[in-house]
Amino acid sequence: MNYKITTYGCQMNENDSEKISGMLKKMGHVNVEDESQAHIIILNTCSVRENANDKFFGHLGYYKKMKESRPDLILCVCGCMMQQESVIMEIKSRYRHVDIIFGTHNIHELPGLLSDHLEKHEMIVGVWKEGGNIVENLPIERKYDFKAYVSITHGCNNFCSYCIVPYTRGRERSREIDSILMEVESLAKNGCKEITLLGQNVNSYGQTLSKKTTFADLLKILVQVKGIERIRFMTSHPKDLSDELIDAIALEEKLCNHIHLPLQSGSSKVLKEMNRKYDKEYYLNLVKKIKDKIPNVALTTDIIVGFPGETREDFEETLDVLEKSRFDLAFTFLYSTRENTPASNREDQIPEDVKHKRLNRLLEIHNKIGHDINQSYIGKICEVLVEGKSKNNSNYMTGRTDTFKLVNFPGDDSLTGKIVKVKITDTKTFSMEGILED
Ligand code: 5AD
Ligand code: SF4
Repeated sequence: MNYKITTYGCQMNENDSEKISGMLKKMGHVNVEDESQAHIIILNTCSVRENANDKFFGHLGYYKKMKESRPDLILCVCGCMMQQESVIMEIKSRYRHVDIIFGTHNIHELPGLLSDHLEKHEMIVGVWKEGGNIVENLPIERKYDFKAYVSITHGCNNFCSYCIVPYTRGRERSREIDSILMEVESLAKNGCKEITLLGQNVNSYGQTLSKKTTFADLLKILVQVKGIERIRFMTSHPKDLSDELIDAIALEEKLCNHIHLPLQSGSSKVLKEMNRKYDKEYYLNLVKKIKDKIPNVALTTDIIVGFPGETREDFEETLDVLEKSRFDLAFTFLYSTRENTPASNREDQIPEDVKHKRLNRLLEIHNKIGHDINQSYIGKICEVLVEGKSKNNSNYMTGRTDTFKLVNFPGDDSLTGKIVKVKITDTKTFSMEGILED
């Protein structure tokens, strides 16, 4: 059968989708881009914010119509939303056209669930409440040859008071170093140049292993893998980012000069209520330390605007940190109430119009900073890992610097997968332009 997977949300979901694809391919099914050609449709969902949930139910309505004209179509839904009991209940009562439901902890069960459905012709629900042991060696069909996601931890133990992830992805578990190393070595053998290590909090890697290991220990081993030229990682929780790691990034060429360091809020009061376990001073000191030790580092962040009880003064503190930290990129979110999280019960929720006004102010300041940082690249020669043709101009190629800047430049497809030198000539809001250097 042909299958089509649509992935919502973060890199962790993308990596799960690559594994789902790997399993289906191994069973003899064929990955197709065009949904109208697919016999199996899989929606890998995200539940980090409310609008993700709303969009998903909108899509399910659309597939109901599609199934009326194509009754043999098998519709599977999986991912974080399926770990919410209320979602399963709603699907069971209002979206009976869904055929298979599975969760984040048991993607490896998909082949069995699929056979069950084909045998019984009824809705099959297989969701585990808790994550068991990490299942290794699942087949994987990766999107690219030259860059790859490698998950190193699953789940999260931090319980930030706004966040649903610890409930949908379970407790933090680290993969064994040997399993990670084997995966990275096999990637390198197949021509992969860049890996991105994934975890909700990569800095706490190793805490659940029987032999205590740190994230810096893992990196020291991975940088030795021949063929891997760049190592990225995300996400770093500020509370666990060690000096050892900062030193490693400063010293080790292969570790990209880019740290994604979610701030969430600049107000110490709000940070405490968010259960982030650091305050404004700590964060600013950390940023200073990073910038002192890694002079050309790119810092990116996540910021939530309108957390319950956020006053104008609290918000001003966020703007202050924004101006002092000068982030290359900030992913900004309006606070969204998530079922069963501590912050969702608070009565001092911020009105939507106030949230929007604050977000707009924040973006205005951030965009100016981002623009100035990008301008400072003009004239510089950067190493770019070429990812393929530019979407907007087929005579242009596109790729990323080690600082995660998107660069477009005239070139041809033969460069895809190579690391080339590009001189930056111009900047746009979300990208830069350049020319190849010899
Ligand atoms: N509301 C808004 N943003 C959220 N995030 C997580 N939970 C919420 C929420 N309830 C944001 C955080 C996190 C990013 C992945 O999503 O900023 O770092
Ligand atoms: Fe959510 Fe906090 Fe865990 Fe990140 S660290 S996944 S924001 S609970």
